[in-house]
Amino acid sequence: MRTLNEETPSKIGSTVTVTGWVHRIRKHGSVTFIDLRDRTGVLQAVSGKWNPEVYAQLNELSPEDVVQLTGGVVARSEKSVNPDLATGTVELQVEQVTLLSQAVTPPFSVNDSTQSVDEELRLAYRYLDLRTERMQANLRARGRATSFLRHALDKEGFIEVETPLLTATTPEGARDFLVPTRHKGSFYALPQSPQQFKQLLMVGGIERYYQIARCLRDEDSRGDRQPEFTQLDMELSFVSQEDVLQLNEKLVIDLIRALYPEKRIQQQPFPRITHAEALERYGSDRPDMREDKNDPNLLAFCWVTDFPFFERTEEGGWTFTHNPFSMPHSDHLERFMAGEVEGILAQQYDLALNGFEIAGGSVRSHRPEVTEKVFTTMGHTPESIQAQFGHMLRAFTHGAPPHAGIAWGFDRLMMVLQNEPNIREVIAFPKTGEGRDPLMQAPGPVSDAQLRDLGLQSR
Ligand code: AMO
Repeated sequence: MRTLNEETPSKIGSTVTVTGWVHRIRKHGSVTFIDLRDRTGVLQAVSGKWNPEVYAQLNELSPEDVVQLTGGVVARSEKSVNPDLATGTVELQVEQVTLLSQAVTPPFSVNDSTQSVDEELRLAYRYLDLRTERMQANLRARGRATSFLRHALDKEGFIEVETPLLTATTPEGARDFLVPTRHKGSFYALPQSPQQFKQLLMVGGIERYYQIARCLRDEDSRGDRQPEFTQLDMELSFVSQEDVLQLNEKLVIDLIRALYPEKRIQQQPFPRITHAEALERYGSDRPDMREDKNDPNLLAFCWVTDFPFFERTEEGGWTFTHNPFSMPHSDHLERFMAGEVEGILAQQYDLALNGFEIAGGSVRSHRPEVTEKVFTTMGHTPESIQAQFGHMLRAFTHGAPPHAGIAWGFDRLMMVLQNEPNIREVIAFPKTGEGRDPLMQAPGPVSDAQLRDLGLQSR
């Protein structure tokens, strides 16, 4: 017997063995009902005084015990059919009970979706929280989406490539998480995104790369932000901005058609507005264009294009708005190379959905002199450019194809599609708002011996 929902209704008259968790226990006079739960659903199992031994065993069970039950599948009488359950037409007349694992009283009930449980408690007992219908549905949806995307991108000729987690610091604009090593004064940085590696893969002739990539940024968590999150990251050679937009628009529409048939996309093709128009008309660079913001099945996608390449720093210098490896707008390239900064636009695009930025990318500069100019504009000296980005500039001198890419904030997209109020609901083991994991108790102190090995001191 594989699963409760898939098989029991068709097994009337046979004896089956099922396994799962005790979801609910109901004692009615001389009859006891157990709702047994597995990942597919719930099955009613029953015994009574007519089978004193089994009846006594059922009466000893507690919620969340893990059991194996053997018995006959019988049709329920017409009045006891439960139309809300996939297995509601049948029940199991239990003949044998094996307790596989006994559960202590859980700190919150797994079977009551109406209760509101403190999030810290949910996260401290995440393995119990994951048993709830809500979390089961969210993780399943997430798994289906990655599987759909992998399949769709494979069909488009993309190659899934993994890139390192232990790497050097990357300029994505957030703070890096650093990893000390046994070589004193030498640190790895965890990647804020695979940006440099994916561009190097293009120089490496991969042409079409994707990765369901983990990204790490030491920034404060918010409802739509985690220090550790997942991107659907991709990069393509010999393409224009238009190619990237069209491919991604099709991919996201196909995903929704396949997995969320109940959802409606307000406008197709997705409207496109420039960054300046978005700010002027909506006061935001991730506009929410939905006609009815309370309709849980309405999605409003919108491309935002033509971002300014640079913005002023607090100190009065210049920094990149999105990505220093982007290509200036083709009409602005000459002016930029001649020294103009103000008003130079980048071939940069974001995808907004219901007021969230769910993806961002750009056409990259594959010309070392353009990228070098970007860094000098930001105040880097030739020496510091060589020290920090020399490897990229060198790679571009070895025959770099024109390339462009994009990364989806995968958790964010799933949050919107699952109608969840925050990103933590679609991540199996998220961090709290303060960046802690109450289950693993991370981050936490380490032993003096470990610190000694690393040549570090903890104050
Ligand atoms: P960017 O920094 O815009 O671009 O990130 C791409 C998308 O990732 C999501 N995102 C996040 N999601 C959850 N928590 C976070 N802390 C977080 N930060 C970003 C957003 C965002 O749109 N390398 C470039 C992509 C490229 O140019 O190809 C990059 O990382 O949805």
